[in-house]
Amino acid sequence: MTPAIDVRGLTRRFGDFVAVDDVSFDVRPGEIFGFLGANGAGKSTTIRMLCGLLAPTAGTALVGGVDVARDPEGVKRRIGYMSQKFSLYEALTVDQNIAFFGGIYGIEGARFQARRRFVLEMAGLEGRERVVTRDLPGGWRQRLALGCALLHEPPIVFLDEPTGSVDPLSRRRFWDLITDLSSRGVTVLVTTHYLDEAEHCHRIAIIQAGKLAALGTTDELRQVFAGRAILEVQTPRPVDAALVLEAMPEIEKTSIFGTSVHAVTHTADVDPAAIARALEAAGHAVTSVSRVPPSLEDVFLDVVERTGAAALAGGGR
Ligand SMILES: Nc1ncnc2c1ncn2[C@@H]1O[C@H](COP(=O)(O)OP(=O)(O)OP(=O)(O)O)[C@@H](O)[C@H]1O
Ligand SMILES: [Mg+2]
Repeated sequence: MTPAIDVRGLTRRFGDFVAVDDVSFDVRPGEIFGFLGANGAGKSTTIRMLCGLLAPTAGTALVGGVDVARDPEGVKRRIGYMSQKFSLYEALTVDQNIAFFGGIYGIEGARFQARRRFVLEMAGLEGRERVVTRDLPGGWRQRLALGCALLHEPPIVFLDEPTGSVDPLSRRRFWDLITDLSSRGVTVLVTTHYLDEAEHCHRIAIIQAGKLAALGTTDELRQVFAGRAILEVQTPRPVDAALVLEAMPEIEKTSIFGTSVHAVTHTADVDPAAIARALEAAGHAVTSVSRVPPSLEDVFLDVVERTGAAALAGGGR
């Protein structure tokens, strides 16, 4: 099967700074492919290259079979793009925004009317056609932006942090729309900072300092903990307990998860009861110590820490 998106050695420099560094991956038709990474990791820069908006410094990317460097206009016609900053005109009404994007994509007549109805229905905006966009609640604005990006029925869509700063119900509804698109064969590349959202993706790429640090399904990504274990420690003073845990020879590192500590062990055969006793011997009340499967957050922290440490050891970029 020909990939919907095929990226080989994609690189973008700004002066001496390498924002995207030799990134390779492909995305299958109909796949929901997630980009996860810290601020400044290079997610938006990658997407802008894939959308034909920014020329790569090196490498190639085929989007829908079209080379983004050779035919950026051809790419733009075949894709939908929802940029990280709102792509809507705030001073226009809902209907005026739809008409504006219809004009950009050259959609007219009966097709335009059908697509307009699709957007209004999908976004739940029927009856709000004359509302000025800036007066819409965030969740509606985001769905309208998605609708406008889908007006011309592109087979591939790029969504750059589509759910930033909207409420959890709107986020859930937005992800239902993305899942629906995928089930109809649309390829979706989406960036997010929300780890719970990444779980909706078929595969996830973790981007760290411009490099592809990990790629796979959530189950595949969890394999970074093969040969190690994660102990969840419930204790009244997690921050202090984490310091004690870090000093133990069995423990590689810890992170605080709300009221508990996740302690990563060097080997998989560690005894939780022994760790509990050692904590109690150090004066900490222990509610429980139990092995837990790695969450995506555990994976993300581990991958980012290890690739960050490797970059420092190698003298950075
Ligand atoms: N036009 C530009 N000129 C110089 N540097 C740039 C330019 N665009 C992006 N950068 C830098 O490239 C790096 C990657 O930026 P990018 O916007 O791709 O990150 P991101 O992963 O999308 O981050 P965020 O999660 O904050 O959106 C950043 O350090 C940014 O400052
Ligand atoms: Mg970004």
